[in-house]
Amino acid sequence: MDTIGILGAGAMGSGIAQVAAAAGHNVVICDNLTLALTKAGKGVQATLKTLVEKEKMTDAEAYALYSKIKFSDHMSDFRDCTVIIEAIREDIEQKQIAFKSMEAIVEEGTILASNTSSLSISAMGAQLRHPERILGIHFFNPAPLMRLVEIIPALQTDLEVVDKARNLITSWGKTTVLAKDTPGFIVNRVARPYYGESLRILDEGIADEATIDWAMRTIGGFRMGPFELMDFIGNDINYAVTEIVFQNFYFDPRYKPSFTQKRLVDAHYFGRKSGKGFYDYRNGAAMPEPLKDEALGREIFFRVLVMLINEAAEALYLQVASRDDIDMAMTQGVNYPKGLLSWADELGIEKVVEKLDDLYVEYLEDRYRCSRLLRKMMRENRKFFNA
Ligand SMILES: NC(=O)c1ccc[n+]([C@@H]2O[C@H](COP(=O)([O-])OP(=O)(O)OC[C@H]3O[C@@H](n4cnc5c(N)ncnc54)[C@H](O)[C@@H]3O)[C@@H](O)[C@H]2O)c1
Repeated sequence: MDTIGILGAGAMGSGIAQVAAAAGHNVVICDNLTLALTKAGKGVQATLKTLVEKEKMTDAEAYALYSKIKFSDHMSDFRDCTVIIEAIREDIEQKQIAFKSMEAIVEEGTILASNTSSLSISAMGAQLRHPERILGIHFFNPAPLMRLVEIIPALQTDLEVVDKARNLITSWGKTTVLAKDTPGFIVNRVARPYYGESLRILDEGIADEATIDWAMRTIGGFRMGPFELMDFIGNDINYAVTEIVFQNFYFDPRYKPSFTQKRLVDAHYFGRKSGKGFYDYRNGAAMPEPLKDEALGREIFFRVLVMLINEAAEALYLQVASRDDIDMAMTQGVNYPKGLLSWADELGIEKVVEKLDDLYVEYLEDRYRCSRLLRKMMRENRKFFNA
């Protein structure tokens, strides 16, 4: 069985290590900070303790799983690994340096993967002697709970490497989707309007955070409203992904970040983890009440939804991923109540195009341009599924 290496023992690295060990692999997790390794060890132990308490595993199974993970502060321990997943900070230069160092240690056939959320896998491969072995294997947070994993071949990746990685991750009980090496891949691209359009509605004074969250949850059926979700993810992390996606799409206004969120980040109002974000989570603070106006709520929900559908359609049109993978990615990666393309079918593509065109005419901003695919499908009276 493959020995799996994980570089970076942060939130993602420690979660992925747990998933790989649970699937029966020996795992080497390496971090250059001893403190991070200690924290990761304690984190995995705490999760296993909870699983034992809930009778999902026995004490002996938890012990056996934990002893499969070797915590190391030196990459030379990766020597026997056949697959290594990098999960260090989201910084292309640091990742490139790390991949070069790892390539000097491992065998020629070792697969090197990155868990990056938004950086170019092809750029990481450019530094390698054997770039055909690199690809993106993108888990979602928390890795042990989230079923979706995006598989992202770089321009240089060998097809056999893609197949091997996909089979391996599937054998860990995950659902894989294949995405082109483009900014944000599937989920972090297609989900941008959930945050961006909600922030725009807030900035324009159409509704406050609580009302927008209420509309998206109650009328839209989303598990969390956009503002509570940004506070949960951390505004620092969510803003950074938006900024990277915006820059990497050559400043396409569809992905434009919001000053409102930037100021929260400036003030270190990161959200739940700092006690304050869009909402105040400190002891005794009261949550604001939404304005439960059904007509306003429907307007907010429909505007955000058509922007999401437009993004999903554009990703399909530009061959970022297949129809099925785009819908699967959004339901399993970010728990959307429905796949966006099937949602478009259900609403009627004509209604989606009409709303996008209304927004475009009103604002005269490129941000609201309708995907050619939606317009073409409307003309041809087609649906994404069953037509
Ligand atoms: N946090 C998320 O929600 C999430 C979700 C999906 C993907 N990602 C991606 O996963 C990666 C890691 O994210 P995270 O949230 O776990 O980060 P994190 O900051 O929690 O952890 C990163 C770890 O890497 C270590 N590290 C940094 N440089 C290193 C090096 N050269 N060698 C060894 N260790 C090094 C740090 O000490 C730290 O412990 C990023 O690329 C991020 O974009 C994050």
